[in-house]
Amino acid sequence: MSIVEYCGDMAARAVGNFGHGYGDCGHSQLSGGLFDQEARPKTKIACFSVGSGLFGSEVERVLGGGLVPGSLVLVGGDPGVGKSTLVLQVAGIIADSEDLGGSAPVVYVSGEESVEQIGIRADRLEIGTEELYLYSSTDIEDILRKIQHLSPRALIIDSIQTVYLKGVAGSAGGLTQVKECTSALLRFAKTTNIPIILIGHVNKAGDIAGPRVLEHIVDVVLYMEGEKYSSHRLLRPVKNRFGSTDELGVFEMSQSGLAVVSNPSEIFLTEQHSDSDFLAGLAVAVIMDGSRSFLIEIQALCVSGSSVSRHINGIQSSRADMIISVLMKQAGLMLQENAIFLNVVSGVMLTETAGDVAIAAAICSSFLEFPIPNNIAFIGEIGLGGELRSVPRMEKRVLTVAKLGYKMCVVPKSAEKSIANLGFEGMEIVGCKNLKEVINTFP
Ligand code: TYD
Ligand code: MG
Repeated sequence: MSIVEYCGDMAARAVGNFGHGYGDCGHSQLSGGLFDQEARPKTKIACFSVGSGLFGSEVERVLGGGLVPGSLVLVGGDPGVGKSTLVLQVAGIIADSEDLGGSAPVVYVSGEESVEQIGIRADRLEIGTEELYLYSSTDIEDILRKIQHLSPRALIIDSIQTVYLKGVAGSAGGLTQVKECTSALLRFAKTTNIPIILIGHVNKAGDIAGPRVLEHIVDVVLYMEGEKYSSHRLLRPVKNRFGSTDELGVFEMSQSGLAVVSNPSEIFLTEQHSDSDFLAGLAVAVIMDGSRSFLIEIQALCVSGSSVSRHINGIQSSRADMIISVLMKQAGLMLQENAIFLNVVSGVMLTETAGDVAIAAAICSSFLEFPIPNNIAFIGEIGLGGELRSVPRMEKRVLTVAKLGYKMCVVPKSAEKSIANLGFEGMEIVGCKNLKEVINTFP
């Protein structure tokens, strides 16, 4: 049975179950009665089932090992980035896994969409489990009262901006409502031990519901980022009471939902670069984001004879100015009469000094008009004397480069020995003391 057909049934089941006690829910205040269900004993972290596949493992890793019973998890992000899609997929996995909560269902409550709409989406995402209950409501009291009878293994609220608590001032989405609703959900989660995933839209200023009040209330905050990276979506923990925030999930949005990107290291490389025709002015850097390393492409264009100017995109202009000055003074490049354009592909903002050498290499490549073969990567910081300096996590970065089949990796001389000792078969590690040596490595 497809989930859309099933939806009616589920809604009916839900009404049957939820409807229980409907008559006697006359109180409008969130009294203790709502929360006095006997708390189940705390169990250790409830991981998604092993059979949950790549998607499940990726989310599990970002969550720091799984969903903790009684925890309140906030998934934030811009409207349309894919939060509902992500969380619905997660709900499907939890509902499907047999080693979690026995026969208890997962309840997905939406205040934004009807049961039919969520059902159609679930259908598209090929979520076939009968243990996922869909419900459309915006009244927190109503939701919690009905949830209690089901003792679900997890509860999803989509979104915090659409729900309200009776007796609290302001309309849904307002600061007071958002705060009070979140606190009520937190109390519910802690009392019942039911984990709750909360979706929150980020407003224009980049905050969830104005100030970051929610971040202090909840246990885990995950942000979903996207538009900059086309169909790629990044899931980043910014707070985690149960795990590290040094994680990053990488997904791709497709027709059938979010899929894990199995080779995230190269998502920021342009297509030309994987071709055999090399272009002057391109160089590959290795950056870290969370515990993940990525290859990104730096593009430079030096135009002589035009007006002397600098156009810099994706790199701090002070950093770019410094590298250009060092190239002139320490490596003897006559860049004075040039207009210099610098760009980081994919709209990534390069904030690490580990990209310095790649920036310098891209500028040299354009200025000297020779292309750098597309199987060389550059790692390292540049000092004012033109010297190359080591950066954190050298081994991890070099490992990523090696995994992608690169033939050469240019690193600071000081790091060469320890890295070469790791033994990267088929990839040459070239240690350089300064920029002049980097330029000399070019064939
Ligand atoms: P959605 O999860 O609704 O975003 P949010 O809850 O953060 O507002 O997803 C929004 C976009 O994702 C929407 O424009 C359509 C797209 N999408 C896909 O490309 N494939 C899919 O399978 C689904 C469900 C959505
Ligand atoms: Mg949504």
